[in-house]
Amino acid sequence: MPLVPAAAILRRARSGGWAVGAFNCNNMEIVQAIIRAAEEESAPVILQASQGAIKYAGLDFIAAMARTAISQARVPVAIHLDHGTSFEQVVRCIRGGFTSVMIDGSHHPLAENIALTRRVVEVARAVDVSVEAELGRIGGTEDDISVSERDAFFTDPEEAGLFVESTGVDSLAVAIGTAHGRYRGEPRLDFERLEHIRKAVNIPLVLHGSSGVPADAVRRAIALGVCKVNIDTDIRQSFTEAMRRVLEADPGEIDPRKVLGPAREAAVAVIREKIRIFGSSGKAPEI
Ligand code: G3H
Ligand code: 13P
Ligand code: ZN
Repeated sequence: MPLVPAAAILRRARSGGWAVGAFNCNNMEIVQAIIRAAEEESAPVILQASQGAIKYAGLDFIAAMARTAISQARVPVAIHLDHGTSFEQVVRCIRGGFTSVMIDGSHHPLAENIALTRRVVEVARAVDVSVEAELGRIGGTEDDISVSERDAFFTDPEEAGLFVESTGVDSLAVAIGTAHGRYRGEPRLDFERLEHIRKAVNIPLVLHGSSGVPADAVRRAIALGVCKVNIDTDIRQSFTEAMRRVLEADPGEIDPRKVLGPAREAAVAVIREKIRIFGSSGKAPEI
């Protein structure tokens, strides 16, 4: 049961009105923290590798760590490629054992995004791997999108309908006001747009840039069709803050395990808290 396609979790999440946490991993401690938190909450979970993680740890290492962790896990887990950049990268991940991939063609014109996503869906479908795509631009908090630009960057509901119909993707990442990284102020989500997107497409929606989004706003997005919530920054922050605390208390500490162990504990705590907010606690047996 442990290694599953993301679509198997997303289907249940959608019918049950909850969301699965998709947590970014960059090293062994974070992989272990994600699995442990999911087990302690009896929640299905998605382990995901970003472009930065692949560059840092290497695809083979991430895949091997994830597979090892999952082989011992007592909850269903999907391994997901986050913001996949090309057809070739998707194929490499599938060969590495990923059960879900994102192909991010959001920076391409619509027709190109559709063509690329379609190609990925065709190959992934053949091996029961789930596909997430993105429409609209989910930037970084440093991108400074002005109010007048918001409309041009956000997902257009009508386009979303056409995109999903022409590509056959399993899930869609939407741009509704979230951004990757630390927010300077409080993010303002366009719930009305989310409602229109949900009416236009019949598949689970994905919220990126969810660190720093208040719990109430995340819950509201879930009630409006978000079934997968991506978290990276909040894990990084709790992880490094814990490392800093250890080193400040004892600047002479030279054992990495004494620094990384508490960081792993801190990551477990933040991931458990997110899982509870997303409503996926106790849902593992349903998958
Ligand atoms: O895509 C979202 C990630 O949080 C970006 O992470 O810096 O590891 O590529 P990265
Ligand atoms: P945050 O780092 O803002 O949580 O975003 C994570 C994400 O969307 C990964 O794709
Ligand atoms: Zn993202």
